[in-house]
Formats: sequence, C-alpha cells, structure tokens
Amino acid sequence: MSLLNEIEPLKQTALAELKAAPDPAALEQTKGAWLGANGKFTALMKQLGTLPKEEKPAAGKLINAAKIAIEAALADRRSELELAAAQPKEPTDFTLPGRHRALGKLHPLTQVTEDIVRAFRKLGFAVADGPEIEDEYHCFDALNTPADHPARDTQDTFYLAKPDGPQPSTLNPQLLLRTHTSSVQIRVMKSQPPPVRIIVPGRVYRRDNADATHNPTFQQIEGLYVDKGVTVGDLKGTVEFVFRELLGDETKIRFRPHYFSYTEPSFEIDFTNALVKKLGKDWLEIAGCGMVHPKVFENVGYDPEVWTGWAFGFGIERIAMLRYGINDIRLFYENDARFLRQF
Ligand code: DAH
Repeated sequence: MSLLNEIEPLKQTALAELKAAPDPAALEQTKGAWLGANGKFTALMKQLGTLPKEEKPAAGKLINAAKIAIEAALADRRSELELAAAQPKEPTDFTLPGRHRALGKLHPLTQVTEDIVRAFRKLGFAVADGPEIEDEYHCFDALNTPADHPARDTQDTFYLAKPDGPQPSTLNPQLLLRTHTSSVQIRVMKSQPPPVRIIVPGRVYRRDNADATHNPTFQQIEGLYVDKGVTVGDLKGTVEFVFRELLGDETKIRFRPHYFSYTEPSFEIDFTNALVKKLGKDWLEIAGCGMVHPKVFENVGYDPEVWTGWAFGFGIERIAMLRYGINDIRLFYENDARFLRQF
C-alpha cells in the first residue's frame, strides 16, 4: 500500500482511539502513541522524505490535514473529560429541600425603642445622641447634682481609672460610664440655642447586681423640651400621648411628687392599663420627670427668666417587659436565640 493510501485509515483509527479514551491519563497515553516521538503518526511524517518528489506535495497536504484533525479530536476529548470530571458524582435529587438561611430580626428592645421614637416623631421631637463614656460634669455637676449625692458614690457608678498627671482637671476629667441619659440634655443645650425638642434613646450603666428586675446595663429614653411658656400640662399631655401610642388607648398616667436635682418641681410617672391590672397592681412606676431646674439652664447658658422646659427619663426594658409579658430583664442580654426569635 502506498503511503498516500495509508494516511486516511491511520487518521480514522487515531480519531477513534482518542474518542474512546476513558479518562485523562488514557488520553495522554493515546496522544503519545500517535503524536509522540515514536508515535505512529510521527513515523508516517518521517516517511514523507522517502517519497518521490512528485508525490510529496499531495502527501504532505494530506498528512497535515490529518494532523490538524487528530489534534482537534484530542482537544475535544480533553475538554469532554474535564467537563465530566467537574460534574457531581451522584445524580442531583431535585426533590431535596433547599438550603434554608434564617432571616435576622430586630432585638425586642430595638423594636420598642423604635416604636417610642416613632411616637415622639409625630410630636416633632428629633433624636439626639451622646457618649456612653461620660465625665462627671455632664453626668452630675451640670445637672445640679452635688458631690455628696448618692448616685455619685463608687458603690453606684462605674468610674474609669484616672490617668495620673499634673493636667488641670478640665483636661483630665474624671470619666465614668453614664448612669443616665440626662447627661445628653447638657450636651445638646450647650451645642445649640433654644428652642429644643429632643429625645435620647441609649444605654446606661449602674453598679447593680443582676436580678429579675435589675441589670448593670440597661436602656433609657430621655426627653427634653425647652421653649417659652412651657408648662407641666404640656409635659403630662405629651407623656400621655406617647404611652397611649405604645400601650393602648385605655392607658392612664398619673404624676406623683418626687425629687430630682435637675428638675423643680419633679414627679414620678405611674401608669396603668389592663396589663398592669393583670399583674395584680393598680399602678406601675415608669419614669421620672419635671420642669427643668433654673440652675441647669444657667449651667448651659440659657436665661431661666426667658426659657422654660421639661424633661423626663424612663427605662425601655420596663415597657418591653410589660408589652411582651417578660418577667426577667436578664433575658434581654443573654442573646439566646430561642428567646429572641419570639419577637
Ligand atoms: N435620670 C433619671 C434616672 O435615671 C430619670 C429622669 C428623671 C430624667 C427626671 C429626667 C428627669 O430628665 O427630669 O432615674
């Protein structure tokens, strides 16, 4: 058989073998058997030199075309095998349930805070913010709270270690974790002229031992309203509106005389509704409030002869506990998903 006649059958065999290679290793072996240094096709090309001159062009052309076809078949089979290797070994079961990704939720305290903020926004209050690491001036002195007040006792408050140094006390103030959000009243009034209409939700800290109704950290909302001719009536109307928004239309509030050093007169706010009755109580204490003390206005540079105002502060946990029927404040801080999932 002449060389020319051998080319086509050899090519067909090579293509068939490449196509049949069951895996990449076998494919590489087949490639070597045909195109390697001692491969069958390589041998054919070597024979080209022995042909008579007039047969060379036609044979060369055929051999080249065959080589291209073989290389193409090799590349095709290689990508087929690679694709097959990338496929899952097991057949896919489309009836299996999909991967479930649980949706996160807002913490119940965040939900209650947002509701309270929404109620105050309806009355035109803006949200203000202040630092949790506070100094004695903003937390106590500017709020007319004297140095011997029990709230300032190291038994009641977390003080930060004071760096030693000769700096004047204004540059090196005694720092503490704020015991109430009232400190933000001072910061806001010092930063803007009246009128003021703000609420301040935030975290506060006290040296309480944790039990069902106490936790060393908890959340408060402070309110401050300063304008001309503000009265206790405005205060009571505002508090009543917000509590009815939060706890239902039949909610009632009452003011009891009390003492806070930054308000005069001062009151404690009690409220009642069906929930409170269910707890077997007539009233529940919920907040402190009063008319801003003239001394506080002087401390922030507002003229107490011109400006009047009220302030209040209440605990958010209390409201959340009532709303959801939770009997232990510590549950809010344990981050147990079984508890949090319910809200
Ligand atoms: N700061 C008080 C507390 O933590 C609550 C409070 C009482 C805030 C009277 C006020 C206020 O703004 O006027 O118990």
